[in-house]
Amino acid sequence: MIKKCLFPVAGYGTRFLPATKSMPKEMLPIVNKPLVQYGVEESLEAGLTEVGFVTGRGKRAIADHFDVNYELESEIKGSSKEQYLSSIREVMEKGKFSFTRQTEMRGLGDAILNGKRLIGDDPFGVVLSDDLCLTGDDEGVLAQMVRLYNQFRCSIVAIQEVPDDQVSKFGIIAGEKMKEGLYQVSDMVEKPDIADAPSNLAIIGRYILTPDIFDVLENTPPGKNGEVQLTDALLTQAQNGCVMAYKFKGQRFDCGSVEGFVDATNYVYNNVYKPV
Ligand code: UTP
Repeated sequence: MIKKCLFPVAGYGTRFLPATKSMPKEMLPIVNKPLVQYGVEESLEAGLTEVGFVTGRGKRAIADHFDVNYELESEIKGSSKEQYLSSIREVMEKGKFSFTRQTEMRGLGDAILNGKRLIGDDPFGVVLSDDLCLTGDDEGVLAQMVRLYNQFRCSIVAIQEVPDDQVSKFGIIAGEKMKEGLYQVSDMVEKPDIADAPSNLAIIGRYILTPDIFDVLENTPPGKNGEVQLTDALLTQAQNGCVMAYKFKGQRFDCGSVEGFVDATNYVYNNVYKPV
């Protein structure tokens, strides 16, 4: 059974400067809830209740969000305002939270390697909370992937089809189609030019990883942009064993970009948000 989920949240969020100069990108709200809380709720729904964060300098607000705020809570205790805290209180009841730091932002692969001390030797989920995945009343994306993991027992990446002019923004896979929406990965390239892209199947920010990924990451040299790329480590796993790619059911918003963030805000406000 997978119980753990890792949230790499140490990045600088430069695309949102100056908003992210002293505030973590992951705390930007989609309507009234920070991005990272959507991700944690998806993790808890999938049964991954041991939640680990790889944070960095200037990210304390994330730890505070998943902790009690005595002054505020005693101030509004017993008033109608208390109901605004109900979603985060539910999250805090269900989840167990731990934190570690990435001291140099050397890429997603390095952030995950830093999470080893929180994860140990177990398979685990990974959520990049700037990818907001919404599924309405249906099963969340991580829950869909956990079910697949229980069947295949190997690393799984979530993918979606993207238009040609977008492939250079993603890790792109090639693979053998096992059945509708499921591929066994044979190749992966991080942010390829369209001419070099093996397909238009793009990896998005949801993963299930087997713990041997840590050994692979330790031996993965910096790749594209001088960063340790998770995609490179996953390719090694795919070549030595098996990595599956899963076309998830649901909608994804790239909230790491201003345009995706605004689309998500409009969508959530019109379709998801319920005023209390
Ligand atoms: P991104 O590249 O989307 O985030 O990384 P970023 O670097 O913060 O954003 P920009 O490009 O400068 O605007 C995806 C996820 O990986 C984390 C980020 O926090 C984000 O959640 N990350 C990235 C780390 O934790 N450490 C890193 O060294 C890099």
